[in-house]
Amino acid sequence: MIVKKLIEKAKQVREMAYAPYSNFKVGAALETDTGKIYTGCNVENASYAATCCAERTALANAIAEGERKFRRIAIVADTEGPCPPCGICRQVLYEFAPDIEVIMANTRDETLVQTLDELMPHAFHSKKLRSR
Ligand code: THU
Repeated sequence: MIVKKLIEKAKQVREMAYAPYSNFKVGAALETDTGKIYTGCNVENASYAATCCAERTALANAIAEGERKFRRIAIVADTEGPCPPCGICRQVLYEFAPDIEVIMANTRDETLVQTLDELMPHAFHSKKLRSR
């Protein structure tokens, strides 16, 4: 089942996270419209604001391979309850996939699924730039 597979992939890549400052490891697995899966982990930096979240790392990996359309993303961290994506990641994902299914999970397989549109109502989008 695809949801389980995405969670498993996110768990695996989470092990690669570079998080020496927060010790909070995150993994993400992004499914394209054709069923390919791209993964990413958080990559922290001594200049904390330069940190890249797992979701954006996965998205950048996919975009760099020419992908533009996405169906689902799974996010896994060792949180109490499922791990939600941060606001910046919601905004960045919205650029490509406003309707993407967001599978929020934790290392104990607690899961919550919502669409990005539900997580981010009234989002700022490129159409707004053209509507002046
Ligand atoms: N982090 C993510 O990778 N994704 C999120 O959606 C939330 C936060 C990372 C950034 C930082 O490395 C650590 O988690 C603590 O904020």
